[in-house]
Amino acid sequence: MGGTATGPASGVRTVAVIGGGTMGNGIAQVFAHNGRQVTLVDVDEGRLAAALGAIEKSLQRVARKGALAEGDIPGILARIRRSTRLDEAAQSQLVIEAVSENLEVKGRVFAALDQAAPAGTILASNTSSISITRLAAFTRRPDRVIGMHFMNPVPVMKLVEVIRGLDTSDATWGVIQALTAELGKLAVPANDSPGFVSNRVLMPMINEAVFCVHEGVATPADVDEIMKLGMAHPLGPLALADLIGLDVCLAILEVLQRDLGDDKYRPCPLLRKMVAAGHLGRKSGRGFHTYTG
Ligand code: NAI
Repeated sequence: MGGTATGPASGVRTVAVIGGGTMGNGIAQVFAHNGRQVTLVDVDEGRLAAALGAIEKSLQRVARKGALAEGDIPGILARIRRSTRLDEAAQSQLVIEAVSENLEVKGRVFAALDQAAPAGTILASNTSSISITRLAAFTRRPDRVIGMHFMNPVPVMKLVEVIRGLDTSDATWGVIQALTAELGKLAVPANDSPGFVSNRVLMPMINEAVFCVHEGVATPADVDEIMKLGMAHPLGPLALADLIGLDVCLAILEVLQRDLGDDKYRPCPLLRKMVAAGHLGRKSGRGFHTYTG
């Protein structure tokens, strides 16, 4: 599905990313690296400045691995425009929402984008667990609303779990599938259901690992060592939870428990305590492990 002289097969040249946190950064980086003009929007000016710094560091890592010439980095960064205004995002052909994992916050963003963007614009969400059908109901274009669930870290991970809401059209799925391939990634479809496939399977494992620490079965380091060496996982579940963000993990487990109506997804009290204390994982420097620099 390569590009042609007239442009990429997906037709998408301009992309807006809403939310300049862990995921928004990575998504903006990958699109800019692949030649797209990107508008990165966040309510917090400070987060935007930090986002550009994080993207530059990440591109330098990519260059060190030989997947990018160091000299190309300024041009990639120049393709990312920062803004605190949602209406500026509406000028792009595709908008990907990556704000906090909260239905009310995301709903407000979708309603505002729907007002501001032309009828043909696709509105995608990077949500980990929230219903795409519910987000689509905040708009008058449910056929053009879709889940585009990138994995963390975005520049490294090949999968995009693509979630079709009840009314997502085949045409919308086709554009997103083609675009994902243009990024060098693979779109795998899932129907709309709490946590989709990835987090419905992953989060109970992470939660159970937290329960092991909570109940004194093993230390965080030993839980991770057992799962890494014993199950050939590249990261232990607690190191992975720290990478994802413990607040994000808690929000996903709450959606799974509430929306599937099953207490087997009940978040471990220790996870709640750590989030309450502000120990959110890598992004705060401390989670189940500690991080410096
Ligand atoms: P984060 O907490 O790092 O970043 C969220 C950003 O959204 C913050 O910079 C915040 O200022 C901004 N924001 C909040 N409300 C906003 C609004 N109304 N308009 C514009 N910006 C706003 O969160 P993270 O981890 O980047 O997650 C974002 C989304 O991606 C969530 O839905 C999460 O579930 C999902 N996700 C997270 C993954 C992870 O590993 N952290 C993996 C895959 C998906």
